[in-house]
Amino acid sequence: MTQELQTVLQSYDRSRDSLIPILQDVQGKLGYISEDAVKGISEYLRVSQSSIYGVATFYTQFRFTRPGDHIVRVCQGTACHVRGGQRIMNEVVKYIGIKPGETTPDYKFSLERVACFGSCALSPIVVVDDIVYGRMTPQKTKQLLKEME
Ligand code: FES
Repeated sequence: MTQELQTVLQSYDRSRDSLIPILQDVQGKLGYISEDAVKGISEYLRVSQSSIYGVATFYTQFRFTRPGDHIVRVCQGTACHVRGGQRIMNEVVKYIGIKPGETTPDYKFSLERVACFGSCALSPIVVVDDIVYGRMTPQKTKQLLKEME
């Protein structure tokens, strides 16, 4: 168990009620919930690893694989779609070489498809590392990714 995980665990009661807050905290600090983290949480809370996976997979917010350094989200909601969201997605797929839901082998980028960011007036939308970029084009998106390399 890493020192970081130990520090997180020790700030919570050894109660099953702590499970979700611990998972959120671990993901916030490590970017995802590793196998080691599940093992550590299981020992700390005395809850089986399968129960932890069971609870965590119920909530889509939790990820179990290491994400890329940059998380690229391309909106595919209706407003963005009609204004070129699909062309932007195609450009990103072509440029970084992965499909939505995947991470590049060098862990530089993860790509996600999102249904609507609630910023339809600025469509089409691309969000990189939680920064919202409005009125994007395939070219502008490619340039943005290039600057992050
Ligand atoms: S459809 Fe893209 S922000 Fe709403």
